[in-house]
Amino acid sequence: MSKRKSDEMASSETMFPGVAFITGAAGSGIGNATAHAFVEAGCTRIAITDINPTTLDSTAKSISEKYPNAQILAVAGDISSSDFVDSFIGQVVEKFGRLDYCVNCAGVLGPGKDSTSTSLEEFDKVNAVNYRGCWLTSRAQLKAMMRQDPLPSHDARRPAQRGAIVNIASQLGIVGRPNAAAYCASKGAVIALTRSDAIDYSAHGIRVNCICPGVIETPFIMTKQEDREAILPFAEIAPMKRMGQPYEVADAALFLCSTKASFVQGHAMTVDGGYVIN
Ligand SMILES: NC(=O)c1ccc[n+]([C@@H]2O[C@H](COP(=O)([O-])OP(=O)(O)OC[C@H]3O[C@@H](n4cnc5c(N)ncnc54)[C@H](O)[C@@H]3O)[C@@H](O)[C@H]2O)c1
Repeated sequence: MSKRKSDEMASSETMFPGVAFITGAAGSGIGNATAHAFVEAGCTRIAITDINPTTLDSTAKSISEKYPNAQILAVAGDISSSDFVDSFIGQVVEKFGRLDYCVNCAGVLGPGKDSTSTSLEEFDKVNAVNYRGCWLTSRAQLKAMMRQDPLPSHDARRPAQRGAIVNIASQLGIVGRPNAAAYCASKGAVIALTRSDAIDYSAHGIRVNCICPGVIETPFIMTKQEDREAILPFAEIAPMKRMGQPYEVADAALFLCSTKASFVQGHAMTVDGGYVIN
């Protein structure tokens, strides 16, 4: 087959022929938007998880209604439990045979206190989900990816890809904010983890990147009216002077997972309306 013919064929196919995996996929936040975005982009095999079984079920139902051809594996659980994480990754590989695009969104807010006011329990809670949970999940994903053959890229010029991981960190992993030390540190850890994994797993054909969202309009920060009032000034000091939407973060995650990002490795991509420009 000529190269032109093979390129034409590839361009008519989805960028996501493999299996997508998203944590924190319930509700109406970034994980939910990312799960929908993968299926909208033609990915037909998707695994989703969240600690909240009710809202996870709603995400799965809403995807199935819009895209009846999508195969969805939705299992609720706690990503800070290594038993749950290892068992769920095992179920994904058993059902779909592999996993290719992993977006690790599950996270919790910190206690909203400075360090001397923060209890050990509050510190441990935020780190158990944001840092330990991200490490447990990406560790299990890397192990599974290392056992599978790479998938061809969307064009013949680029190398095949064995897998891509996108960890959702935060702009607060890069810059500080008052009364957020435990949360900022947990997200800084996610950025450092991403960079080191990117170095260690490049040789295996796996890319590991992270996204550092700015203020995104999700239930995470918007549950109460006073939350909204407290957070708005942080959105308004960014050059774009608005909150971001979950689908704007999802689009960045899909790019980083796709083979269009074939030379992007260990990057901490800000998606924050210019809040952090360095
Ligand atoms: N919204 C923002 O402004 C913002 C900014 C920067 C970073 N982030 C990060 O983006 C990610 C997604 O947040 P979001 O804004 O979409 O909020 P969200 O609350 O919609 O999503 C977080 C999800 O994680 C789930 N979760 C919490 N603990 C869990 C656990 N132990 N195991 C499994 N799932 C668990 C929640 O149930 C929830 O569905 C988080 O990691 C957050 O830190 C959000």
